[in-house]
Amino acid sequence: MRNSVTEKRIVLIIGGGIAAYKCLDLIRRLKERQIRVRAVRTRAGQQFVTPLSVGALSNEPVFTDLFDLDAEREIGHIRLSREADLIVVAPATADLIAKMAGGHADDLASTVLMATDKPVLVAPAMNPRMWLHPATRRNVAELTADGIRVLAPAAGEMAERGEAGVGRLPEVPELVATIEDMLARAGGGKLQAAGEAGKGRLAGLHVLVTSGPTHEPIDPVRYIANRSSGKQGHAVAAAAARAGARVTLVSGPVAIADPAGVDVVHVETAAQMLDAVRNALPADVGIFAAAVADWRVANAGREKIKKTAAARTPSLSLVENPDILKTIAASGAHRPGLVIGFAAETERVTDYAAKKLKAKGADWIVANDVSPESGVMGGDRNSVHLVSADGIESWPELSKTEVATRLIERIADKLAAGRSEAAQ
Ligand code: CTP
Repeated sequence: MRNSVTEKRIVLIIGGGIAAYKCLDLIRRLKERQIRVRAVRTRAGQQFVTPLSVGALSNEPVFTDLFDLDAEREIGHIRLSREADLIVVAPATADLIAKMAGGHADDLASTVLMATDKPVLVAPAMNPRMWLHPATRRNVAELTADGIRVLAPAAGEMAERGEAGVGRLPEVPELVATIEDMLARAGGGKLQAAGEAGKGRLAGLHVLVTSGPTHEPIDPVRYIANRSSGKQGHAVAAAAARAGARVTLVSGPVAIADPAGVDVVHVETAAQMLDAVRNALPADVGIFAAAVADWRVANAGREKIKKTAAARTPSLSLVENPDILKTIAASGAHRPGLVIGFAAETERVTDYAAKKLKAKGADWIVANDVSPESGVMGGDRNSVHLVSADGIESWPELSKTEVATRLIERIADKLAAGRSEAAQ
């Protein structure tokens, strides 16, 4: 029996991996929010967290094997999956993701996943090379196509010495925020209590987002790029979808998963990005978070450029790329009602952002400090200033997910204010 109508219940499948220790904090944070957690450890997960620690924190029995007769008598794997409002897999290893994509059901964790009709959240954690492996990319795409939400792993140092890259389990606050959000969307949660979910504050609107870097070819094998990870733009697209909008995300090449519930158009170059953006119009809101390359190579080679005795060092001549934000902000009847740019600066952040607001014809600029010491590029946190004709609003340092959620809230406020003005 549930203690109250608001109490939610999740099944947490703990896969094998160093990051499994974070599950203990996750359970604690979920319990603080009156979310009940029944944990299932995979065989590999059993090596990393003890039933004693998990059970003490969750205050529930901890499950391991499909053929645990006592547990089966008490509850049964079908009931375990059916009684949950959400199934969370964290950390999800490459192997567990592959099993899910293949539809295996040979232990309790995979059987629960196969037997459930509830939303499933997967939080991967693995070595960066395993994350980028084509097999994992394929499996993640499969899960996403099946309607499973796959969180993008974070970038940073790995447990293995000298290894760094994308593959860390997202931080616990981000996991908690996503779980709360999915529970609210699954029905009866906090958002619905506030009368906002179901339809969402941006329901009926089309939001267009650009994200990630662009790659500008030098020849068929080489390109000019930048360090943008796409995390902030993708988080904005995901937050807009959570708020009920129809979302088109035009993304440059990134190593993170497509957000759930979003139409994603994958492009490489700035010219392709501009085409895709134009094709996606009309939109009610345009959010230009991509780090578009300012220049492309005018004399890009059709064949791989070779070192010859005469020319050891080729000369590249650069031409300016179209400014997508500026072009769309000046597109007259096709201009989205609200046009928001991002400004990546390494110094005099708000000064330059205020100049960009005018120069580009945007309504708002979200300005952030991307100097190397800020850790913003590729990192999971961001500290931004919202610059508009009304002034500058500096937000505290937040996770990129929180920045996205807050930005979408501000957009919904702005559109609601516009509607009530129009009604007067
Ligand atoms: N932008 C764009 N197309 C470009 C360049 C930038 O749409 N060719 C958009 C970005 O998506 C962002 C905003 O313009 O929303 C500002 O990008 P930023 O790189 O900070 O500014 P730049 O215009 O490139 O100026 P600079 O590099 O001189 O700072």
